Amino acid sequence: MPDPWQESDVPRGAAYDRRFDELASAGVDVHGEAALVDSYGPGPVLDAGCGTGRVAMELSRRGHVVVGVDVDPAMLDAARAKAPGLSWVEGDLTDPDFDPGRTFDTVVMAGNVLIFVPPGTEGRAIANAARWLVPGGRLVTGYSIRPGGFGPPAHDALAARSGLALEDRWSTWDRRPFAPPGRYAVSVHRREA
Ligand SMILES: C[S@@+](CC[C@H](N)C(=O)[O-])C[C@H]1O[C@@H](n2cnc3c(N)ncnc32)[C@H](O)[C@@H]1O
Repeated sequence: MPDPWQESDVPRGAAYDRRFDELASAGVDVHGEAALVDSYGPGPVLDAGCGTGRVAMELSRRGHVVVGVDVDPAMLDAARAKAPGLSWVEGDLTDPDFDPGRTFDTVVMAGNVLIFVPPGTEGRAIANAARWLVPGGRLVTGYSIRPGGFGPPAHDALAARSGLALEDRWSTWDRRPFAPPGRYAVSVHRREA
């Protein structure tokens, strides 16, 4: 099965972080994901596909209990080096047997996580997220939309199958309007209360 993350040339570990450090130095707001999640309140968050931990660390700084999960040990090593006191777990979001050990108010998949899982396994990642959410909890995702690739219509259908209803969709993390087909989608799906 093709694995878009393993096949991608996205920099790993410290090199991944350097890109965001450069953006931050240039005055770009690199915490849009954390700000959006934080706007829903102070509850526990699973940073699913946490990479080097940039979103989880910012959420922790804002007072959230966070757990970061990722399948790539090189990304997790960078997260552990920066924030050894936080909870970092190696795991595959598409594995139906993977259990992060608790439930969460929010599961966030930032940075294209849903298009980096092998094509055809997005529904398993969404179903897992639904299982890990408390009633009324939210799955917050952000990914690029490419012609013929995974996108909002398939996403909404898979979410509905797992008991998650679309609450909001924007084109950016700072809530600019989304117009289909769109180039980037930030989606918020909510589990029934
Ligand atoms: C571009 S990085 C985004 C990292 C982080 N969320 C951020 O926004 O900085 C995509 C991440 O998804 C992770 N990933 C891809 N497939 C995964 C899977 N099946 N289970 C867990 N993590 C996965 C990769 O290891 C990688 O760290």
